[in-house]
Order: sequence, then structure tokens, then C-alpha cells
Amino acid sequence: GLVEEIAATENLEAIEALRVAALGKAGSVTALLKSLGGMTPDERQAQGPLIHGLREAVTAAIAARKAALESAALDAKLAGATLDMTLPADAAPKGSVHPVSQVMDELAEIFADMGFAVATGPEIEDDWHNFTALNIPETHPARAMHDTFYFPEVGEGAAQRMLLRTHTSPVQIRTMMEKAPPIRIIAPGRVYRSDSDATHTPMFHQVEGLVIDRGIHMGHLKYTLETFLKAYFETDDIVLRLRPSYFPFTEPSAEVDVGYAQEKGRRIVGGNGDDDGHAWMELLGSGMVNRRVIANCGLDPDEWQGFAFGVGVDRLAMLKYGMDDLRAFFDGDLRWLAHYGFGA
Ligand code: PHE
Repeated sequence: GLVEEIAATENLEAIEALRVAALGKAGSVTALLKSLGGMTPDERQAQGPLIHGLREAVTAAIAARKAALESAALDAKLAGATLDMTLPADAAPKGSVHPVSQVMDELAEIFADMGFAVATGPEIEDDWHNFTALNIPETHPARAMHDTFYFPEVGEGAAQRMLLRTHTSPVQIRTMMEKAPPIRIIAPGRVYRSDSDATHTPMFHQVEGLVIDRGIHMGHLKYTLETFLKAYFETDDIVLRLRPSYFPFTEPSAEVDVGYAQEKGRRIVGGNGDDDGHAWMELLGSGMVNRRVIANCGLDPDEWQGFAFGVGVDRLAMLKYGMDDLRAFFDGDLRWLAHYGFGA
């Protein structure tokens, strides 16, 4: 009968065909169930349990055969599979901190030990904070040197021209306007200049330093930079050269070079830059905060003095990790990062 037929099926399609033939809309068992409606009560009493019993038997046979076929299929699959549970699992790729972020974190830590807090300012800056307050008026030639990305002026009588900050120095202004001295901050962040080659990218990173207090002089500046560079390069063998320079917002100004040696094609910081095989690398700009800048921020320059410096983070990272193309920092090439020990 039907139940034996079901038990003999070889696959799920055959079961389904039998199910439709018996229990489907036009199925044989369905037809029997329908016939109950046309019977006399006596006939129905006699036939009803038989027909319902048949339906249950067929349903149960289908379920049992289905389960048997599925379990046989699984057994066959497992028998054919060669799964070695002792093999090590694939290592999931691991993310890591980008060298630039890593260096900024290191600098924040080094300066925290010297009592510096971290300050921030907007990357979309106004003309006054980026230039004018820093003693760089509209007509100043230093503006041309900055290759500034300006935003289109917003209508007639817009309060100020907006720009992408060309340095982190506007954070000096924002800090002096907001906080009463004494001030000791560093301000890490992105800056922008319309410039691009192996050593320049249109976006790069600086860390600004600012100290405002009473009786601050160049000695404090030099000591601070020396302490920071020794900690950063993890050597006491740091030789600095302060070269007289010019920035409108510092007076006097000094550019700071660090001595390095070329070893196996890599620049190693340390040692005297005047020794054989050694050279100087320009590292940062600095100076005593110009008294006009202090006055622009509403402080009395006879009472408050200070120093400031701005250092290129990307350059610091290149020096520490022996990288030579600045543009690679921003390519997001995982192989490049891995080569220098960052990332998986
Ligand atoms: N803002 C200067 C630059 O980007 C660097 C600097 C900062 C110089 C602070 C002096 C003092 O070149």
C-alpha cells in the first residue's frame, strides 16, 4: 500500500510526489476525507476513524522517511569530509594604530609628563585666528608662503574669509583667548597646504606647543625641546642646532635642526651633526611668542611671556620608523604599514 511505497522512496523528490498524490488538493486521501461529507451518520461513524487513521499513517510515514533520508545524506556528507579538528584556526586580521596617530599619542604622553595639557581647534579656521591674530596681516608676504586653501566667500559682507588652517598655530590664539595663564599646552592635528611631492602632502600633521607664564625665556624653550626629543627618540645622544629664523608670531624665532646619521639607508637621529657622515635635519619652527600676539589675545605682554613651537608629526614618524616617502602615509596600503611593523 501507500505506506510501504513511501518507505521505499529513494529521495526527497519522490516523497514529495507521493505526498501531493495522497494529501494534496486532488489527492487520494483528501478525496476520501471529502467523501465523509456525503455519508449517512452511520456510514460516517464506520468510515471516519479508518479514513482519519489512514491520513495520520500516511503523514507519519512521510515524516519518518524524510528524516531517514536526511540523516543518511548527512552521514554520507560527513563520511566524505576530511575535517582536521587539530589544525590551528585562521588568524583573524588585526587592525593597528597608524604611525601618525601613534606618534601623536607618544607626544601627548611625553608632554603630559612635563605638565602640558592637550588643546584642539577647528580644521576649518577663520582668517583672523590663522593669520591676523598671529601678526600676519592681509598684506604680509608670509601669507603667500602658506599656499592656503581658501573657501569661497559667502556672500557680500561675510564676517570673515574661512580657510583650512595652514598650521596649528591658531590653537595658540584660541587657548590664550579662552584660558588665563599660566598656559602649557600642545595642540596636535591636521593642517593643509596646497603642496604635493615626496616630502609634502596637501594634508599633514603638526603638533603645536605653547607656554605662557611669567619670566619665560629661550632657555626654557631649548630645555623643553631637548627633553622632548630625548624621550621621543629614546636616546640622550641628541644634538640640537637652533638657527635664527623668522616667523611673524615669534620674536626672536629659531628653526631647530637635529643631527642624524645615515645608516643602511636609514636616518638615525643622534650624534653630532658636524661629524663625518652626519647631517642636520630641519625639525621644527619655534621662538618666543611675539608680544603683539600676546596683546592680540588680550594679555599684557609686560606681565606674560612665552615660547611656542610647531613640529611636523609626519616627519617625526618618518625619522623614528625609517620611512622615506611621506605620501605613503596616506595611501592606506596595508603592505606598507606591515613592512614598518604596523598592522597585521
Ligand atoms: N606655525 C609654524 C609653521 O607651520 C611653525 C611655528 C610654530 C613656528 C610656533 C614658531 C612657533 O611653519
